[in-house]
Amino acid sequence: MRRLRKRIIQPLLRDQALQKTDLVAPLFIDETASSRRAIPSMPGQFRYPPREAESVARDLWDAGIRAVLLFGVPKEKDAQASSAYDPDGVVQRAVRSIKNSVPEMVVITDVCACEYTDHGHCGIVGDTRCGIDLLNDPSLDVMDRIALSHAGSGADVVAPSCMLDGVVQSIRHALDREGFEDVLIMSYSTKFASALYGPFREAADSGFQFADRTTYQVHPGNTREAVMESMLDLDEGADILMVKPAGFYLDILAEIRTLGIPVAAYQVSGEYAMIKAAAEKGWIKEKEVVIESLTCIKRAGADLLITYFARDVAGWLDEEQ
Ligand code: PBG
Ligand code: ZN
Repeated sequence: MRRLRKRIIQPLLRDQALQKTDLVAPLFIDETASSRRAIPSMPGQFRYPPREAESVARDLWDAGIRAVLLFGVPKEKDAQASSAYDPDGVVQRAVRSIKNSVPEMVVITDVCACEYTDHGHCGIVGDTRCGIDLLNDPSLDVMDRIALSHAGSGADVVAPSCMLDGVVQSIRHALDREGFEDVLIMSYSTKFASALYGPFREAADSGFQFADRTTYQVHPGNTREAVMESMLDLDEGADILMVKPAGFYLDILAEIRTLGIPVAAYQVSGEYAMIKAAAEKGWIKEKEVVIESLTCIKRAGADLLITYFARDVAGWLDEEQ
């Protein structure tokens, strides 16, 4: 085996290598901010005011990033998440300005209610026989409206992250009915109830006020349920599936890859924060760990890598050339 690893031979036999077109950069747009605000638990990440969306997107474009995933922090929250489908809402405005100034950038929007509800859950909540919980079918209508308003603003891809049953089918029908047949759905099809979303909830101001998300997200130990979630979304018309978080769930990713359509993996805020924190302490080498983590996520089966390191990786790939 070591003949194959001779330094001069190594580059010829590299199986997996990262490419800029694998990367999707998440962006937080904050309607309450007048200038960019650092996110303390995610060093190097910011909440941008809507008017900065286009310059940030242009900078990413110039660095070779071809897709962004938008999250919004709205001024107003209520029980129905009405600011999430306001035609002049924070994400809608950001989509329009990015598509206006960098039209080739693929704009993906997160379709969920948790940043827009006062209770912080991912849809409409109400009484059930097991206490207060996320209501499935009443929440679907909200997701349809959010997806339609994003598509109407020019989004190329909508990405429902609420883990409601039937949400992909519901959004697909709504999009087709309104003439958005060409808008893709990237479903957060297999989303675990993970402890790694903590920094994101600070970043997007989307923490819940009671209970938890275990009645809609998958338990980290459940393999068949995790795979079934993606199979159902494929059946309902998803164009791209997703596994989230990424690094702890490579076995799931490898299985979902076999379903036949493209798969995205989301290296989430807690994965970012862990690498950043250890690197800041000088305990690991940031660049090497980031590249290793993403290479292994790709090796396990991801076609797309959603990562807060996207901009850094693009820079490192340039250095290599
Ligand atoms: C909202 C949403 C979450 C993330 C993406 N979309 C958080 C959650 O489910 O609480 C997490 C992303 C991250 O941690 O980087 N549904
Ligand atoms: Zn949510």
